[in-house]
Amino acid sequence: MNNRFYNKSFVSVSDLTAGDLGYLFDKADEMKKLVEERGGDDRLKGKIMAALFYEPSSRTFSSFITAMQRLGGGVIPLNGMNNTSVAKGESLEDTAKVFSSYADIIVLRHNAVGSAKTMAKSGYVPVVNAGDGIGEHPTQAILDAYTISKHFKDFKNLTVGLIGDLRYGRTVHSLSQVLNTLGVRNFIFISPDSLKMPDEITQKLKRQKAKIIETTDIFTDYLENFDVIYITRVQKERFSDLTDFDKVKNSYIFNVITLAKIKQNSVIMHPLPRVNEIHPSVDDDRRALYFKEQMKYGMYVRMALIDAILRE
Ligand code: NCD
Repeated sequence: MNNRFYNKSFVSVSDLTAGDLGYLFDKADEMKKLVEERGGDDRLKGKIMAALFYEPSSRTFSSFITAMQRLGGGVIPLNGMNNTSVAKGESLEDTAKVFSSYADIIVLRHNAVGSAKTMAKSGYVPVVNAGDGIGEHPTQAILDAYTISKHFKDFKNLTVGLIGDLRYGRTVHSLSQVLNTLGVRNFIFISPDSLKMPDEITQKLKRQKAKIIETTDIFTDYLENFDVIYITRVQKERFSDLTDFDKVKNSYIFNVITLAKIKQNSVIMHPLPRVNEIHPSVDDDRRALYFKEQMKYGMYVRMALIDAILRE
């Protein structure tokens, strides 16, 4: 399979093909083996990654940094931009030029939708979108899909439940598209009315043959249908009025009672951080993948992506 990632920015999942995803999944398998056997290697020696995180991050930031380091590359790790020229008013366009002068690849997390695209246009090196506001989170979607691929033979017959803040949660915007590209047709979207999946995403999925049930019902009604249960945090930081947040913050809480009703071979996922939408008593269940698999797989997938972008 061709490497279509080489020397290109990666800002959205919308152009990805099933072949591209398969290419990354295979490479992620190789990275997993490499890390388990040797910790890493030196293939990206002499390459530098700038990680520019304007918004808080633990997993995405650290897994990108470790991914680069495990392949022998160097990093400019900026988790928070307050001590940079951004605090003096430097624009995103100029910042792109600055870090392109030092780094071979830029990883950007920013609060504005489209920021990664803007930076990709202004900079001179490939830019990877690590979350653009309420827009997309493409690498999270790939690691989530990679995790799902380890549990099911194929994607076609899966019923996927996306639960929680589908409006502001960028992970589900990207994930629904990636899963559809891989063949998932049955989605159940569960959210409060005020936090529904944006209409343009739902319409696009429907044009691509997805069957979507949208509901506000407490998700126990659908629990026995799910193969994949993907729960998200209500994105407090996106609310301008916190009384609106208070109204929806505890809409769905997954606990041992709900756990008892799901299929034996289903999987429970969450991009993390979890606040209170999954009770900690669920964490040790073998179907709960958020601590056991998603985070580790995120590192392998990011190793695969960085390598694909930097080496032909
Ligand atoms: C997510 C994000 O930043 O969008 N976190 C992550 O990258 N794993 C989800 C969230 O913050 O709720």
